[in-house]
Amino acid sequence: MLGNFTYCNPTKLYFGDESLQYLNTELPKYGKNVVLIYGGGSIKKNGIYDEVVEILKTNGKNVAEISGVMPNPTLEKLYEGVETARNHHADLLLAVGGGSVCDYAKAVSVSVNCDEDPWEKYYLKFEEPDCGIVPVGCVLTMVGTGSEMNAGAVITNHETKMKIGHVFADENIMPRFSILNPKYTLTLPHYQMVSGIYDIFNHICEQYFSGEDDNTSDYISEGLMRSVIHSSRIANKDPQNYEARSNLMWTATWALNTLVAKAKSTDWMVHMLGQAVGAYTDATHGMTLAAVSLPYYRFIMPYGLAKFVRFAKNVWDVDIAGKTDEQIAEEGLAAMESWMKELGLVMNITELGAKEEMLEGLAESTLILDGGYRVPQHDEIIGIFRSSL
Ligand code: NZQ
Ligand code: ZN
Repeated sequence: MLGNFTYCNPTKLYFGDESLQYLNTELPKYGKNVVLIYGGGSIKKNGIYDEVVEILKTNGKNVAEISGVMPNPTLEKLYEGVETARNHHADLLLAVGGGSVCDYAKAVSVSVNCDEDPWEKYYLKFEEPDCGIVPVGCVLTMVGTGSEMNAGAVITNHETKMKIGHVFADENIMPRFSILNPKYTLTLPHYQMVSGIYDIFNHICEQYFSGEDDNTSDYISEGLMRSVIHSSRIANKDPQNYEARSNLMWTATWALNTLVAKAKSTDWMVHMLGQAVGAYTDATHGMTLAAVSLPYYRFIMPYGLAKFVRFAKNVWDVDIAGKTDEQIAEEGLAAMESWMKELGLVMNITELGAKEEMLEGLAESTLILDGGYRVPQHDEIIGIFRSSL
């Protein structure tokens, strides 16, 4: 490892099928006014809402609700939530849902006490909050984003067709606590389950395919990737398998709680491409990543060949005897492709609603980052999207 870094992750985690009881331990630490934030209603169908509300009542909390947080939460919805949290003088924002609900709670948290427009301040100028934040706690119901233990908050602006994530530098924006009960994820539809699985895998890839130094993080990443592949195959055949779902939940948290990025460069271009697709189509996050990944990785492979060879050997157990580096690297990606198809992931952006005439706009909407093996140029981005059609 050659880099210097500081590592602090203050989120307290409660994990397991009895973890919700620890909400009773956390709630007394905060004032009376709680804003309960959730999505489109899955928590009402599967009973999680009733369990949480009961605990809030037992703890004597004065509760306001923000419901209907949509997948890929929008700026309009953020403005609405900021109003609710202000009017309620919120002491705690309790997010019960997936990454969208957790991200949204963080975006509300940094905006409540702030006079400036949050889109302008956090998503265009990428400023840090300087106006006092409201603490966030999460009860996670969907696995993939890692939002339960990071300071990321992605918001979509439909008007300008931009989906932007701000990963705040201030660790106080990470949830104060997160409750991770794998049982809560068992009601997820198959489409969401596999989308989340690919999101986990891609978070690891984004932090793995960059840099050339010998770094502990890359060894951890290989272990996490092997675990995702193993558990995903079990969960794909038997979605009610608690052990596999529980491994996936834990791996998702470690894939994006900033640990495996320490002391190394990271890429994140697949997310930038996927977010552009999301801004245009509102498609499910993990599927946007799946649809653009292979064209992107085949594009950068020649520039980072040694890492792709290592990926083939250490993650996919590709037999290297008598093969060139290019052949080994390609076999690694072929193994990944067949795993993705086995899970039933969406493999092209056409299926997500993208069209040839959107290519220029998609490329315009893609933020270009420079952490990877090659900084893609505008026409190369168009080429990657075209190969993903
Ligand atoms: O809204 P409800 O009715 O709750 O339904 C949700 C939603 O339709 C449903 N769902 C969640 N838990 C369920 C369930 N259905 C049945 N049973 C359950 N237990 O699943 C659907 C998707 O939920 P969502 O929260 O949108 O999914 P996800 O966790 O993938 O979050 C996606 C958002 O997170 C952002 C994405 O861009 C996207 O906006 N990301 C956040 C990151 C971060 N904070 O670091 C990083 C990621 O790369 C990602 O960009
Ligand atoms: Zn992601």
